Amino acid sequence: MKTRKLGWTDLNLTTIGLGTWAMGGGDWSFSWGPQDDEESIAAVLRAVEKGINWIDTAPAYGLGHSEEIIGKALKKLSGRPIIATKCGIAWDANRKTSRQLNGDTIRREVEDSLKRLGIDVIDLYQVHWPDPDAELESAWQQIAKMVQEGKVRYAGVCNCSIAQLKRIQPIHPVASLQPPYSMIERGAEDTGLLDYCRAQNIGVVVYSPMQKGLLTGKFTRERVQGLPEDDHRRRDANFQEPRLSANFELVAKLSALAAQRGMTASQMAIAWVLRKPEITAAIVGVRRPSQVDETFRAGDADLSVEDIKIIDGLIGKHKKS
Ligand SMILES: NC(=O)c1ccc[n+]([C@@H]2O[C@H](COP(=O)([O-])OP(=O)(O)OC[C@H]3O[C@@H](n4cnc5c(N)ncnc54)[C@H](OP(=O)(O)O)[C@@H]3O)[C@@H](O)[C@H]2O)c1
Repeated sequence: MKTRKLGWTDLNLTTIGLGTWAMGGGDWSFSWGPQDDEESIAAVLRAVEKGINWIDTAPAYGLGHSEEIIGKALKKLSGRPIIATKCGIAWDANRKTSRQLNGDTIRREVEDSLKRLGIDVIDLYQVHWPDPDAELESAWQQIAKMVQEGKVRYAGVCNCSIAQLKRIQPIHPVASLQPPYSMIERGAEDTGLLDYCRAQNIGVVVYSPMQKGLLTGKFTRERVQGLPEDDHRRRDANFQEPRLSANFELVAKLSALAAQRGMTASQMAIAWVLRKPEITAAIVGVRRPSQVDETFRAGDADLSVEDIKIIDGLIGKHKKS
């Protein structure tokens, strides 16, 4: 699979990174419903077998569970993929999560992640949410210390604005930004974030390229209605009216175009994200090996200029209310 260099770092990431949020399993406020751990481990192994060389996780995903699952999968591998994880979401005894950025707790968060993952160093450590905003600088200072101590190789952020990036860059160089980006969610373009990162040589790894599964073409109204009670997508505006109908309309057209090109809608959605060279990689979420078998192919797919024009025309007509 093709690789791209992550900004100014020496990390060469495959254009697809493995997203492991859903592998956290059920029974917490941002879960994706129940998940079979054996399927998760098999999906990680399949991803590595198919050439994906990096994994994105977070302590928040299943309150430590996603990191533990990855740790178990790593034990079954001879080589170790590049590991990206995050800090800044805490949870209590009732499994309730809250955002927390605190210079004092980050050291413990790093130690806990290293333990769950069973590794000595985290390749890319990211602030999950810049919240509370006032704590961003002190958290970033602490992460810089963890880099100096050799527990973290590179430090990045997720969900930050240009103004927030500018505040922390003088403290310690920012290796990467992780924003949402898909045919339906183009905020990273509209706000100038992608341009800013290109100009600053900050790597960009985008999340939810298939809009949490909506752009795979495999969702129906019945499936949305039947999502498990603890699947957070039930509360996501893109899975509710009036957006849901508009999204289905876009996906139907996308699926038809993809079929004409011998691709699937998922592959086209990912390839569309990767058309931009300033995007180092798309983080593609999976929960079973068969999903990897389909999506990994997008890592090497190139869309023609003509197809990009057609797709942009479809997106232009898509109503986001
Ligand atoms: N930093 C942040 O704040 C942040 C936020 C969001 C995500 N992320 C990261 O980015 C990753 C990717 O984003 P995402 O998981 O939200 O969304 P995504 O990649 O757009 O969608 C992933 C979901 O689509 C479904 N899917 C995957 N392959 C499929 C296939 N071949 N056919 C049909 N359905 C398929 C799966 O769910 P079902 O099978 O249940 O439909 C899967 O969990 C996450 O896992 C996480 O690592 C980070």
